[in-house]
Amino acid sequence: MRREIVMVGAGGHAKVCIELLRAMGETVAFCIAGANATESCLGVPVRVGDDHLADLREAGYNRLFVAIGDGRLRDRLAGLGNTLGYELVNAVSPNAVISPSAVVGAGVAIMAGAVVNADSVIADLAIINTGAVVDHDCRIGRAVHIGPQSALAGNVSVGDGSLLGIGCKVIPEIVIGEYAVIGAGAVVISDIGDRATAVGVPARVLTMHRVDHG
Ligand SMILES: CC(C)(COP(=O)(O)OP(=O)(O)OC[C@H]1O[C@@H](n2cnc3c(N)ncnc32)[C@H](O)[C@@H]1OP(=O)(O)O)[C@@H](O)C(=O)NCCC(=O)NCCS
Repeated sequence: MRREIVMVGAGGHAKVCIELLRAMGETVAFCIAGANATESCLGVPVRVGDDHLADLREAGYNRLFVAIGDGRLRDRLAGLGNTLGYELVNAVSPNAVISPSAVVGAGVAIMAGAVVNADSVIADLAIINTGAVVDHDCRIGRAVHIGPQSALAGNVSVGDGSLLGIGCKVIPEIVIGEYAVIGAGAVVISDIGDRATAVGVPARVLTMHRVDHG
């Protein structure tokens, strides 16, 4: 088996994840991307088309990182990778601070300056972006994206697939549902339901609004 990592994605998020993995001493051998991708991403050769996932698996690669911002697509492509026999690796900055009592799943990205505090649980495929704070006893669902500089107080729960926009704040004990969107800069002081989009200070749910963010 080859130790180098195969990455799905070749965009801006992939660039950050390649640098996280390099900071961990890892090597990304190939990026796999859709049509219109550049030939290389931070010096990593890009192969176009999901078929390359199977080809590279046959060539002996078995470590995968899915660097796609859209949560649903990230989940789907990770599932494809699992089916082909890949192991999902994590990309965690050496400059993130993660409590020894926190539990972190597979396929997770934790960027520089992020803090995950005691007894929090970060499920598979989550992104804890640059400088985000997840305080104690939080539950972060599968394929959630906690945006840069967002801050979650203690005992906050975020359902699968939700996106918390850059710089939002969430007070203690709040429950955010699945596939919800919290707008940039929002301050969440009450629970937010599944698939709701909430913006502002304090955060209010936008009516009749649906965002396909992943
Ligand atoms: C909330 C959000 C998803 C809505 O995007 P959208 O579906 O394109 O919505 P629109 O731009 O049509 O805005 C709808 C309304 O909400 C308001 N609104 C949108 N985002 C807002 C925000 N962050 N704060 C306050 N109001 C906001 C708009 O002004 C608009 O109000 P109006 O109807 O009175 O004019 C988006 O604005 C946002 O904040 N995304 C965060 C993205 C992010 O941080 N990602 C992390 C990347 S690393």
